[in-house]
Amino acid sequence: MKKLPSFVQLKEVGPRDGLQNENNFISTDDKVAWIDMLSNTGVSEIEYSSFVNPKWIPALADAKEVGKRIKRNPKVEYSALVPNIRGLENAIEAGIDRASVFMSASETHNLKNINKSIENTYPVLRQVIEESKTEGKKVTGYVSTVFDCPYEGSISPDQVMRVCDQLIAYGVDDISLGDTIGSAVPSQVERLLDEVLKRFPKEKLIMHYHDTRGMAIANIMTSLQYGISRFDTSIGGLGGCPYAPGAAGNVATNDVLYLLHGLGIGTGIQEKKVQDASIFIQNKLGKKLPSRSLAFIEGTA
Ligand code: HMG
Ligand code: MG
Repeated sequence: MKKLPSFVQLKEVGPRDGLQNENNFISTDDKVAWIDMLSNTGVSEIEYSSFVNPKWIPALADAKEVGKRIKRNPKVEYSALVPNIRGLENAIEAGIDRASVFMSASETHNLKNINKSIENTYPVLRQVIEESKTEGKKVTGYVSTVFDCPYEGSISPDQVMRVCDQLIAYGVDDISLGDTIGSAVPSQVERLLDEVLKRFPKEKLIMHYHDTRGMAIANIMTSLQYGISRFDTSIGGLGGCPYAPGAAGNVATNDVLYLLHGLGIGTGIQEKKVQDASIFIQNKLGKKLPSRSLAFIEGTA
C-alpha cells in the first residue's frame, strides 16, 4: 500500500450541508447546543451555517443568530457558506474565521444552485474573496459537480480545472472538490487528482464526498493514497444539496473516523463525542441517520 498521511484534518459540515436539505426545521436553541457539542469533539473546523438567501435554504434562515450564540472554542475555526457580498456582511456580523464561497464546474448545476452562469459568478465571488481578505478572513473555494452533474452527466477534469484556476487566481486559500451527487468511483478520483495535483499542492485540496451510492469511503481511501489529508464530513452522514436531485448525505464523520483511526491515522477527534453529538441530532430530527458505525454503536446495525 502507498504511504498514507499520518494525520488527517476533517471539517465538520453537518450544521451546514447536513441540515440544509432537511425539511424538519431544527430550532436555533438546538442548533446552538449541537454545534457547542461539536466544538468539543476535537475537530478543527466547523462550517456552522450558510448566509445564502433564506428563501432558497429555509432550514438555515437563522444563520446570524446561530453564529452570534455559539460558544467559540479557540482551537476551532468557524466557517460558513457565503454566496455574495450581502452574505459576507451578514457572516462577518455573526462571526466567521473563514468564508466558504461556492460554484459549480457544470453550467447547469451552477445556474440551478446560484441562479447565474459560470461566467457571471466569477465577478461576484472575486468580490467576496477580495473583501474577505481585506477583513482578514481565510477563504475556501468549493467547486461542485467535479465528477458528474445531475443535469449534464459527466464533467471533465478540464472543466474542473478552469474553475479552480479562477478561484486560485482570486486568492482562495484552498479548494474543496465536491462529488455533489455521490456518483464517483475510485478511477474517477484518480483521473481528476492526476490532473489537479499537476497544478496545485495537495495541501491546498480538500475532498468533499457525498455517499449516495456508498462509494465515499473507497474514494477517501484512494485520495489518501494520493497524499490528500483534508476531507469534509458530516455527523451521522446527514446532508445533500436541494438543487442537486438525488444527492444523499455527506460521508459520515463517524465512518471516516472508524476508517482513519483503524488505519492508525491521527485526527485529534474523539469518536465517543462524535457519537454523542450524532445521537443528539438524530433525536431532534426524529429519524435514523445513515452512518453505519453509528448504527453499530447503537446496536441497530
Ligand atoms: P438571486 O435570487 O439570484 O439573488 O439568488 P439576487 O442577487 O437577484 O437577489 C434576489 C433576492 O435575494 C433579493 O431580495 C436579495 O436581497 C436576496 P429581494 O430584494 O427580492 O427581497 N438575497 C439575499 N438574502 C439574504 N442573503 C443573501 C442574499 N443574496 C441575495 N446572501 C443566491 C442568488 C446565490 C443568493 C441564491 O441563488 C441562493 O441563495 N442560493 C443558495 C443555494 C444553496 O445554498 N445551495 C446549497 C449549498 S451549495 C452545496 O450544497 C454544494 C457543496 O456542499 C459542495 C458539494 O457538495 O459539491 C458546497
Ligand atoms: Mg455538499
